[in-house]
Amino acid sequence: MAKQDKDATFVGDSRISAKRIPNIAPSYSDFPGKSEPFWPNFLLKEWMVAAVCLVAFLVLTVSHPSPLTDKANPNDTSFVPLPDWYFLFLYQMLKYPWAAGDWVVLGTVIIPGIAFGALMLAPWLDNSKERRPSKRPVATGLMLTALVGIFYLTWAADHEHSKNHPSNHGGGSSGGSSAAAPAAPADPSFKPEEIWTAQTSCMGCHGKNMEGVAGPNLQKIGSKYDANQIADIIKNGKPPAMPGGLIQDEAEIKKLAEYLASLK
Ligand code: HEC
Repeated sequence: MAKQDKDATFVGDSRISAKRIPNIAPSYSDFPGKSEPFWPNFLLKEWMVAAVCLVAFLVLTVSHPSPLTDKANPNDTSFVPLPDWYFLFLYQMLKYPWAAGDWVVLGTVIIPGIAFGALMLAPWLDNSKERRPSKRPVATGLMLTALVGIFYLTWAADHEHSKNHPSNHGGGSSGGSSAAAPAAPADPSFKPEEIWTAQTSCMGCHGKNMEGVAGPNLQKIGSKYDANQIADIIKNGKPPAMPGGLIQDEAEIKKLAEYLASLK
């Protein structure tokens, strides 16, 4: 008889399937060298990996304590609260006009809601059988866009914060030293004159040494504006956050504006 006859199946009744596949999991002995018993081999390996990770974590926490900043001080008006790094991207988004003010619901509820809702519903929305990222352009594209956005917003928040508050940047590497002097001047040799130190209404936002707190650093403000422009800012404020009318006395405004204009 010919060899191929071995595979031939003869079915008399077409309603009976030719191949009956029993619903039994294959025996592991069918895959020699590719399987191992769960106990103890597999579990022991898992435990070894877990132990290495745990020790690595312990070493990291001991050698690199988490950077705590100062104790809470209600008298310190120069403190700039900042969310932890993993929320910085949401915090940064709220600085943009399309996600703040009248649109704050968009920035606080709708955009995060859509993003996290889509993440939760992803298994149902994206049920493609393909596993390679290149074969799933929509899912891959959305995820990459989200990642790029999160990275950019986190970077932008940190960058802006360290630019506006060079001395106040406690979040990262140099925890100890920045915690000791949260409102130290940006330029240590800078000495504000009495004219400034009398302006307690300005200090809350611009800092004791004009180093900038909620408002910008003013230590070199003279290279940006002349005395008239500064007097105008003091009188009328500067949108969005600089209030006008804090000083009423014209002579005092003039003196302060001239002093500020001399800082270059
Ligand atoms: C409520 C906080 C606050 C107070 C109080 C305040 N400022 Fe400001 N100031 C700001 C902010 C915020 C800005 C930045 C406005 C902008 O350009 O977006 C600013 C901007 C300025 C600028 C322009 C800086 C620049 O680079 O454009 C000057 C000058 C200035 N303030 C001076 C003063 C003086 C003088 C006083 C006290 C009379 C004062 N500020 C009080 C918050 C404040």
